[in-house]
Amino acid sequence: MLSTTLEKALNKQVRIEAESSQIYLSMASWCEVKGYGGMAEFLYGHADEERMHMLKLVKFINERGGHAIVSDLMEPPVDFKDPKTMFQQVLDHEVFVSKSINDLVSITLEEKDYATHNFLQWYVSEQIEEEALARNIIDKLNLISDTKNGYYLFDNDINSLFSQNQIQ
Ligand code: FEO
Repeated sequence: MLSTTLEKALNKQVRIEAESSQIYLSMASWCEVKGYGGMAEFLYGHADEERMHMLKLVKFINERGGHAIVSDLMEPPVDFKDPKTMFQQVLDHEVFVSKSINDLVSITLEEKDYATHNFLQWYVSEQIEEEALARNIIDKLNLISDTKNGYYLFDNDINSLFSQNQIQ
């Protein structure tokens, strides 16, 4: 059975994962209308993965005798300066998510809730991968010049360089 504190903290994470999905969906849509089809495809996939992260938490909270809450969400940004700035925002967001997961893990230790502690290890590993992926993308974007040509080539390559199964 989850404590009230942990139930509340896990529900906060449900919201964060749902908001992550919305942010990446908004980025995907921006890429699509700007003609960056490859980046759009990548980010639509990423938005789906975040929804899966959210659902996994919902099921866990309910399984443990809590009540997963589906709340309203923060409105995501609509416009982005350019792809490089946008992927920097992805990295910043993932660093924020990692901190939130770490805070959750701390609570499980304070409360000696080892089942939830164990459950959260999947998210700990996932965050390492997601941060590394965002950093890799930024490294690649730093190798190309901020020109339409550079972005065009990157857009063609993103899905072969960084396959969706790198994000779960
Ligand atoms: Fe579910 Fe990208 O954090």
